[in-house]
Amino acid sequence: MKKKEHTSLGPNMINTFEQEPSFKIEKYDPITAQWEVIAPDLLEIVEKAFLGKVSSIDWLKKNFDDQETVALIVKEISTDRVVGYAYALPLHGYEADDTVHLAAIAIHPRCQKNKLTGGMMSIMEDEFLKRGYRYISGDYAIENGFADTVQKHYASRVVEVQNWQRPDGVSQRHMKIRLQ
Ligand SMILES: CC(C)(COP(=O)(O)OP(=O)(O)OC[C@H]1O[C@@H](n2cnc3c(N)ncnc32)[C@H](O)[C@@H]1OP(=O)(O)O)[C@@H](O)C(=O)NCCC(=O)NCCS
Repeated sequence: MKKKEHTSLGPNMINTFEQEPSFKIEKYDPITAQWEVIAPDLLEIVEKAFLGKVSSIDWLKKNFDDQETVALIVKEISTDRVVGYAYALPLHGYEADDTVHLAAIAIHPRCQKNKLTGGMMSIMEDEFLKRGYRYISGDYAIENGFADTVQKHYASRVVEVQNWQRPDGVSQRHMKIRLQ
């Protein structure tokens, strides 16, 4: 099989003579990660990107540390601060055994529009394919246009689509995407 390249790393991540990359994406490793160093940055992203409307930092750590999870962090090279994260894991009993669930993806508002989403998703897809999974599901926000962006990007690889509303009234689109 032809090796897929992580092409969607965004203009600031392509190393050209004119510009050094501004961001790097790292896999979170529970053994080497210094949680106390990255936790304040993660909390700031949660507050700024999701306006605080998600679970606690302890819940995030529990999920990041789960060996079935693939968690990624985006670091801003100039400051060494964490400015984005994403993680996915299997939801036993809620999704099929061949499916993992994208639990969260967020970029700090001051670093958005750098195509970091594509970079993170590409690494995540490769990792779960290696682990034997066939699909990644997710619930994407409709209001900010992200659901449309994801659906357009994956096109025919989107095998299930269903709009639904959270109890707090936020509209979401559930999509299941074939890994390749
Ligand atoms: C949603 C969020 C992570 C998107 O990040 P962003 O910095 O705004 O967008 P990015 O530049 O990284 O990515 C968007 C671009 O990547 C492209 N892309 C490439 N690969 C992609 C992939 N695998 N999945 C989605 N988009 C991809 C998109 O087509 C889009 O291109 P366009 O700008 O030409 O339309 C960010 O807006 C955010 O944190 N929002 C608040 C939290 C949130 O809503 N999270 C999602 C919950 S459902």
